[in-house]
Amino acid sequence: IIIMVNIILVPLWTAMAIQPNLLQAKGIQVLPPVNFTLTVTALAEVLLHWKPNPDQHQNYTVIYEVEIITPVQEEYNTKHTHSTRTVVLHDGFCAQVRTRLSYNNSQIESEWVTEELPALAGDAGTSVTNLFCIVYTASYNTASLHCSWLAGEHAPTDTVYFLFYRYNNYTEQCPDYLKDKWQRNVGCRFSKTYIDPKQIDTLIIIHVNGSSKHAAIKPLEQLFNQNTIGEEQKENQVGWVLILVTVTMCFITLLIAMACKMCHLWSRLFPPIPTPKNNLKDLARTYTSETETEVGSYIDDLGSYNEDLYCEVLEDSVI
Ligand SMILES: *[C@@H]1O[C@H](CO)[C@@H](O)[C@H](O)[C@H]1NC(C)=O
Ligand SMILES: *[C@@H]1O[C@H](CO)[C@@H](O)[C@H](O)[C@H]1NC(C)=O
Ligand SMILES: *[C@@H]1O[C@H](CO)[C@@H](O)[C@H](O)[C@H]1NC(C)=O
Ligand SMILES: *[C@@H]1O[C@H](CO)[C@@H](O)[C@H](O)[C@H]1NC(C)=O
Ligand SMILES: *[C@@H]1O[C@H](CO)[C@@H](O)[C@H](O)[C@H]1NC(C)=O
Repeated sequence: IIIMVNIILVPLWTAMAIQPNLLQAKGIQVLPPVNFTLTVTALAEVLLHWKPNPDQHQNYTVIYEVEIITPVQEEYNTKHTHSTRTVVLHDGFCAQVRTRLSYNNSQIESEWVTEELPALAGDAGTSVTNLFCIVYTASYNTASLHCSWLAGEHAPTDTVYFLFYRYNNYTEQCPDYLKDKWQRNVGCRFSKTYIDPKQIDTLIIIHVNGSSKHAAIKPLEQLFNQNTIGEEQKENQVGWVLILVTVTMCFITLLIAMACKMCHLWSRLFPPIPTPKNNLKDLARTYTSETETEVGSYIDDLGSYNEDLYCEVLEDSVI
């Protein structure tokens, strides 16, 4: 029996003998923050706010550990008593915060305090789906925003969807909707926005809610940045520039060719110098660096066939 008691007691003793940390050893108490609140300050923006525990001794360095639990897990520390997060809120938001004391390389944490925001109200299957947005950059650094979506599977035919975007502190409702066969809004165009095309990392928040006589329409939020949604558009722009440059150069070539045909007399006065027909790139160089006479001779040699070839050469060199 004595041996058995020993077997049970020895591990207990060792556990208790392990020195906790300095602060625990000193019997220092750390108390959780108080009055932790969550406030929605803008679309998809939540302010976390708390107060230091009034009974907490202020002798030690206090920081706060924050953990966002939903919708996206995130942990961070702050010495402030507030912080702001930009996250989608349609499925609710849950976070916890605790006090942490640090002293002489040891630290001790309080209990967590937890708060949550409920999911935005609405019937299942009524939210829009397949929400997709593109930012188009126009001239003078203005940006337009186009979005499209599908009506929720269980959205009644009388559903009216409303789309909002938020960019920094600007929030705007869609002025111009596209409709499906039941006249439900399923697309939106903002021809002018506050979006700065140069700030490609700034988040664009999209919020789509709605109303219906027969169902509560559940809102949906989505975060984009121009980096991810503008990609297609930027490639298009490069494509357009290439096409424009090529067309312009072909047009100039055509004009020169016409001008030279009009001055045909001139080339008769100065007979054409034989040109190697198999090296078109050389010809392109000749055109840019040498005299009009040589271009004229080239055109005379190849006739109308030359213009197409010439454009091909130019396209090769542009791309
Ligand atoms: C916490 O909130 C309660 C009630 O709103 C208030 O009476 C109290 O003073 C607050 N505590 C602190 C530390 O601000
Ligand atoms: C806080 O620190 C001061 C001096 O640094 C000390 O006199 C006081 O007892 C400390 N208070 C507590 C609650 O530890
Ligand atoms: C700080 O910690 C070291 C070792 O952990 C200890 O020797 C020292 O006495 C501590 N200082 C104070 C002021 O508690
Ligand atoms: C947005 O915030 C900026 C400063 O950050 C301020 O100058 C501007 O007036 C605000 N705009 C709106 C619409 O609140
Ligand atoms: C939709 O959201 C906007 C912006 O939050 C709000 O002002 C509006 O009342 C909402 N409409 C409905 C029908 O929920």
